Amino acid sequence: DWSMSSFAEAVIGELREKIGDRKVVCGLSGGIDSTVVAVLLSKAIGDNLHCIFVDNGLLRAGEGTEVVGYLDEHFKLQLHYVQAQEEFLSKLRGVDDPEEKRKIIGRTFIEVFEREAKDIKDVSYLAQGTLYPDVIESVSFKGPSAVIKSHHNVGGLPDIMELDLVEPLRELFKDEVRKVAVELGLPDFVIWRHPFPGPGLAIRILGEITDERLEILRQADRIVQDELHASDWYRKVWQGFAVLLPLKTVGVMGDDRTYEHVIALRVVDSVDAMTADWTRLPSEVLARISSRIINEVKGVNRVVYDISSKPPSTIEWE
Ligand code: XMP
Repeated sequence: DWSMSSFAEAVIGELREKIGDRKVVCGLSGGIDSTVVAVLLSKAIGDNLHCIFVDNGLLRAGEGTEVVGYLDEHFKLQLHYVQAQEEFLSKLRGVDDPEEKRKIIGRTFIEVFEREAKDIKDVSYLAQGTLYPDVIESVSFKGPSAVIKSHHNVGGLPDIMELDLVEPLRELFKDEVRKVAVELGLPDFVIWRHPFPGPGLAIRILGEITDERLEILRQADRIVQDELHASDWYRKVWQGFAVLLPLKTVGVMGDDRTYEHVIALRVVDSVDAMTADWTRLPSEVLARISSRIINEVKGVNRVVYDISSKPPSTIEWE
């Protein structure tokens, strides 16, 4: 029987003991798992923690950067902010296959991360935000999405780094990580942030990723986030986001025919992402999201709502 406050304190003590005065490198994604890992380590070893944040050009507006800015300000991290947008986007040019996208992004992430980590001298450990379900999944039980999609996590840097691992969240479930985050005094926007996939917007732009399509998706997605917050639904759902479909449909604007993009809205309830159901959002919320996207995002003339559950669908569209 243990409370989270004793958990955080105990972990910080253990980390301090185990690591001593050696250096640790940690990938920050802006998500709650890597954030909690960074804060625990920062409290344990201070300046011997080096955090690397890779901007892959596939983040949504404010994704990551808000959290990283907060951490930098409040914990004075040794933060390495890597601008790798062009490196990722150029490799993705012309690629429309979902698995190919995931592989390119995963591979490029490792290259960029390793390069950056090697610049930091005498690192002994790599910290990862591995959770208990990840541990089980990799040992015995493979969840359907782990088999069907090659998952890429900011924590997923295997042996190539040749560093010993520090995984302070190995025994926790997601809801327990949230409790630790509360215990550590982290703000709501960190604690309640929806999960965001490692491959980012690349797997929410069906088909080829172009600057124009990234821009359309970012604008539509920003409206989804704003309206989920404004209607108080953000915290009630597991995830809510926009997907840009690889097709155009006919519409009408004034006297003119339009032929433009379609945005799919995906909002789901879940406890662990292994199964999920589409959220029964009130029709007023749906109506507002739809009319705002169609009115405000240039190049979009239709919004559809995804009413599929997982399984057999997945949460993401790719
Ligand atoms: P699916 O689409 O498989 O997603 O139902 C389940 C959960 O995992 C997230 N997801 C990922 N997270 N790297 C990640 O870190 C990935 O490659 C990835 N793919 C999906 C997804 O957002 C959902 O929360």
